[in-house]
Amino acid sequence: MTYEPARSSERLIRGDLREFEAYEPILPLEALSERSGVPVEKLIKLDGNENVYGCSPRVRRALADYAFYHIYPDPLHTEIQGPLEKYTGVDRKHIVAGSGSDELIDLVLRVFLEPGDRVINCVPTFGMYPFSTAVCGGKTVTVPRNSAHGVDIAAVKAAIDERAKVIFIASPNNPTGNLIPPDAVRELLDTGIMVVIDEAYYEFSGQTFALRVPEHPNLIVLRSFSKWAGLGGLRAGYGILPASIAELIRRIKIPYNVNAAAIIAVRESLLDIDYLQGNVKAIIAERERLSTMLREQGVLIPLPSEANFILCNVAGGDALEIKRGLEKKGIFIRHFNTPLLRNMLRISVGKPEHTDALIEALARWEGG
Ligand SMILES: Cc1ncc(COP(=O)(O)O)c(C=O)c1O
Repeated sequence: MTYEPARSSERLIRGDLREFEAYEPILPLEALSERSGVPVEKLIKLDGNENVYGCSPRVRRALADYAFYHIYPDPLHTEIQGPLEKYTGVDRKHIVAGSGSDELIDLVLRVFLEPGDRVINCVPTFGMYPFSTAVCGGKTVTVPRNSAHGVDIAAVKAAIDERAKVIFIASPNNPTGNLIPPDAVRELLDTGIMVVIDEAYYEFSGQTFALRVPEHPNLIVLRSFSKWAGLGGLRAGYGILPASIAELIRRIKIPYNVNAAAIIAVRESLLDIDYLQGNVKAIIAERERLSTMLREQGVLIPLPSEANFILCNVAGGDALEIKRGLEKKGIFIRHFNTPLLRNMLRISVGKPEHTDALIEALARWEGG
């Protein structure tokens, strides 16, 4: 073998990644502050479905008091397995935690995909499914939802071939806010491919398929601590999986995927469930108030939601113009303009004062 000195690394990069498009993340607080000229502490950030009440005070105290950040964390995060078992009602052999449920999406795909295998994605939905599919060398098969944003079961079945391995269903779905009915999940399970129900917003809806996982070899449920427990910045999520898959994921994951701070934060959150559920209840009540106020005002037309955000149509105006107008006042929401989400806005539910500021700012567009 004769060696050629490398002039560039291009030739060595995976061909399918050369033109890879980055995931478009939401902007950090500092960037939003710079863009709007509004100081960070005055921003009304309703673009990322984060929890405006923050984390439990127990989490802050425990993180401040911890003395062992210089020691690697427990790879099996044993300390939180028992509390997660109790919280979910599912035996710990089915549970694996990760750096956000985002990491579980990636780990599940690593387990099932060989190059060219297919993943079914029911759009519009969360953008990480096609992203992680591509990173793992898979192909996304896109199946549009129906006009009520429900999963089109007949179209999904028609899209399943011998290379289809996994289907992702967010329930409640982001950004549409609706749930998948249990009989639809039953039909999907009957197809035999892996059915991943992403319950990142479960606590705002109360509907879960977690307890069914032990009975079904092809059902996986993903959960997050970002939304209900306010740990978005710490990255903590978990999967509830058939025991053999959970065991395999424990073997293939990087050892220290859940860092020491995240382990502490999960432990303390699960010791303060009543407090956190109080915040969830406040967000659900505010979701209904915001929805009613938007409907009465008539600038935006809210869709029903089972999550901590509301997707809206715009009554006669331009969604992007409204988003930009709100930004000048330090209010940030998410804009969509795709064939399936034409001229739409998604608003994360905040505190009552955030709703009031938003409604006041929207008054400019009243009457068209
Ligand atoms: C449907 C859905 N799943 C997963 C996630 C990611 O959650 P995590 O912060 O736990 O990675 C999000 C975040 O917005 C989401 O909307």
